[in-house]
Amino acid sequence: MTDPVLLRDEIEPGIVRLTFNRPEKLNALSTPMVRALEAELDAIAVDKNVRVVILTGAGERAFVAGADIAEYQGNRTREFAAYQFESRRVFDKLEALPKPTIAAIRGYALGGGFEIALCCDIILCGASARLGLPEGLLGLSPGGGGTQRLTRAVGRHMASDIMLAARRITGERAFQLGIAAAVVPDEELMPAAIERARAVLKVAPLAAAEMKRLIRQGADAALPTGLAFEQEVLLRLYGTNDGQEGIDAFLAKRDPEFRGE
Ligand code: COA
Repeated sequence: MTDPVLLRDEIEPGIVRLTFNRPEKLNALSTPMVRALEAELDAIAVDKNVRVVILTGAGERAFVAGADIAEYQGNRTREFAAYQFESRRVFDKLEALPKPTIAAIRGYALGGGFEIALCCDIILCGASARLGLPEGLLGLSPGGGGTQRLTRAVGRHMASDIMLAARRITGERAFQLGIAAAVVPDEELMPAAIERARAVLKVAPLAAAEMKRLIRQGADAALPTGLAFEQEVLLRLYGTNDGQEGIDAFLAKRDPEFRGE
């Protein structure tokens, strides 16, 4: 039996890890992998026991080295379009997942791999990380949101340098640019991701989901719209059990018990 192309394991209660698993192909994103990712995201979205997701790549060489170029060859336009629509839908789903996501990157995160990372909330890089959108070298352009999300993340001119000159940036550079929240030696990457995930577990789940939405939707909204949305969210959270529990626990000097309601 072949190994599944996407592995799922529960690191500890509340923390699930998804591992892209085609190391011999640098975890290139095949159609079965995209579908497996969608199935996991659908399940995780409604599973109260999952509070935070770590995405990573199997092996030492890559997070994901892009869409599986072998699938592109000789494809008819209609099949190519179907792959693009499907992966775009799944990437959007990843970005909109109502739980925090952490991309833990060592080695190559190219094309669709970088685009997946850009859909995650927190990006951590190992020192070996190399991120880029090299589709131009194939005569193509990114199709999983890279031109839009990278530009929003780093601005037009830096995004142009990365795409138009097909540059691969290091984890350290990604950190300087504010893409990566941290860069650590490769062997410390997974422990660092787990530590971040544990910190996320301390934040009330409804609050995390709402803040995630505020950050994402607010980025594309006018400031007054974003501010109004923010206030509405806070008032709603104040009325939840968890909102009251957090306040009570602080004043009673005990740990809060959040139940996601
Ligand atoms: N799609 C399909 N297969 C891929 C792949 C991709 N995106 N990236 C790597 N692979 C495969 C290679 O074909 C090779 O398979 P093989 O051993 O059967 O020949 C294997 O993974 C190892 O890659 P290889 O190219 O031999 O390693 P390298 O160290 O020489 O180069 C990269 C590494 C990442 C620079 C190079 O693989 C590369 O440029 N990949 C494509 C990146 C890309 O353009 N991504 C965007 C796609 S839209």
